[in-house]
Amino acid sequence: MKVLVIGGSKGIGKACAEQLLESGNEVIVAARSNNSISHLPLEFIDLDVLEDVSSLEDFDELNGLIYCPGSINLRPFHRLTGEDFKNDFELNVYGAIKCIQSCLPALKKGKGSVVLFSTVAVQQGMAFHASVAASKGAIEGLTRSLASELAPHIRVNAIAPSLTDTPLAGALLSNDKKREASEERHPLKRVGNAKEIASMAVHLVSENGGWITGQVIGIDGGMSRVR
Ligand SMILES: NC(=O)c1ccc[n+]([C@@H]2O[C@H](COP(=O)([O-])OP(=O)(O)OC[C@H]3O[C@@H](n4cnc5c(N)ncnc54)[C@H](OP(=O)(O)O)[C@@H]3O)[C@@H](O)[C@H]2O)c1
Repeated sequence: MKVLVIGGSKGIGKACAEQLLESGNEVIVAARSNNSISHLPLEFIDLDVLEDVSSLEDFDELNGLIYCPGSINLRPFHRLTGEDFKNDFELNVYGAIKCIQSCLPALKKGKGSVVLFSTVAVQQGMAFHASVAASKGAIEGLTRSLASELAPHIRVNAIAPSLTDTPLAGALLSNDKKREASEERHPLKRVGNAKEIASMAVHLVSENGGWITGQVIGIDGGMSRVR
């Protein structure tokens, strides 16, 4: 398979790139930096999804697109500004829309599969998550809508993780006390790691996930469903 991982330089996206390479796939990573992946045998595209992404139109054929850029901007609602909501939407949603649109012909040709990222905080109400939940809720709507419109040529799914140990979650896991409190909140009594989220993304883009579309899959230590 030939798979484009947008935001594959860190965290879950980097783990996706590593797992795809391990199973012999061709991987292209698009991100703003490549320091932590320069040792990997992949193609790198210097790209900021908040800017012009038309360079992605150059692909002839793609079998997968995984869109990883996202935010965790947690604040009481009264302290969230309009700019916060707009910025979260630009990165989480509009960035994904631009990238998918640019890759659409290549994905159609490659009978491709798109994987997007939501959060557990869409299905489970959580204080201070208003901005990120609003954006990721849009991702869930986009996932189902595109899955319908693009079937049977392109499959579209999303993963909704709970707290996962990546650079993005660094501030929430920055000391033992915070980590223990987060672990305690989850029915499975730990936070997630990038590899276990990535393995679902890889499953969804691969042939083994070939009958799955329009789904939002929770990987959350039981957080969304279990008391
Ligand atoms: N970690 C969690 O606890 C958690 C929980 C729920 C949902 N999620 C979602 O899961 C997804 C992956 O999260 P993560 O924790 O792996 O995030 P991460 O550690 O911040 O990694 C994000 C990746 O996206 C790239 N990126 C960020 N801004 C970009 C931009 N403007 N243009 C291009 N690339 C950009 C980063 O690379 P560069 O900096 O090199 O550009 C990096 O490779 C996100 O959508 C996040 O919202 C994560």
